[in-house]
Amino acid sequence: MKYPRDRAQDNGWSSAGRPVVSPEGLLEFSVDLVRSAADLARRMREDGVSDVSTKSTETDVVTAADRAVERFVVEAIRAARPQDAVLGEEFGRANPVAPAPGGVQWILDPIDGTVNYLYDLPVSAVSLAARIDDRIVTGVVRNITTGAEWVASLGRGAFADGRRLCGSKQTVLSQALVATGFGYDARVRAAQARVVAGLLPQVRDIRRWGAASIDLCLAAEGKVDAYFERGLNLWDHAAGGLIAAEAGLIVSGLRGANSGSGLVLAAPPVLHGLLHDQLVRFDADGAI
Ligand code: IPD
Ligand code: CA
Repeated sequence: MKYPRDRAQDNGWSSAGRPVVSPEGLLEFSVDLVRSAADLARRMREDGVSDVSTKSTETDVVTAADRAVERFVVEAIRAARPQDAVLGEEFGRANPVAPAPGGVQWILDPIDGTVNYLYDLPVSAVSLAARIDDRIVTGVVRNITTGAEWVASLGRGAFADGRRLCGSKQTVLSQALVATGFGYDARVRAAQARVVAGLLPQVRDIRRWGAASIDLCLAAEGKVDAYFERGLNLWDHAAGGLIAAEAGLIVSGLRGANSGSGLVLAAPPVLHGLLHDQLVRFDADGAI
């Protein structure tokens, strides 16, 4: 494991036999779990995608692997940390287990970038965050195909392969490479297209990778200068949002709002201000 730790060994259990809530312990536990989960997803992809069905719209797909990975992670958490709550994309939405005050809630996207996964494009990830009360305290995102891995814990920085992440140095909007994404609802997409049409002439270019968690990690690495998207669910941005924030980016909504389903905007401070104003101008979180 190539990221800083305060303890020599912390496998998620205290010496008193109770699961720990230290950031190191939670991060250690979640990195190991996400690695196994991503490996399961990768092996299932090699065997071919099966049981493809749709969810919110006919373009919003779910596969046997999305369900299998979520089941695997939930079972591993229940076995190792039975008092923790889990909110997962595939099974957790209808019946999210409420976390106890001060307890840990895991927020899981078993496969972020399912359309890429379906088409065998190398941009999908397992994304797992730990939340205590209203704060995301750890985040791990792992690319299922390439094994690229990004981690962060609150107040302790963000890392990829042992490198501390610090985002882009870009401060000029016209030179900025900006990642974004689109929802599955046609009306939402029409509104998102209008925002992109307004923004595209003002920036270097736009990228649409197809996995919000990876977009946020690429912004944390400075491989894109900024990222924004409306309509995300918590499992899409919980882990990646912490990784971007710990890399020094401002992660927010518009007009003082927190990041959330309205909008997630992640950018280094100067660029954040410039992009923010353009996104307000194009009403990027406006009513549809
Ligand atoms: C989607 C991806 C995509 C983003 C969508 C998300 P999913 O998640 O993150 O990049 O544009 O808004 O719903 O469906 O692949 O888990
Ligand atoms: Ca997903």
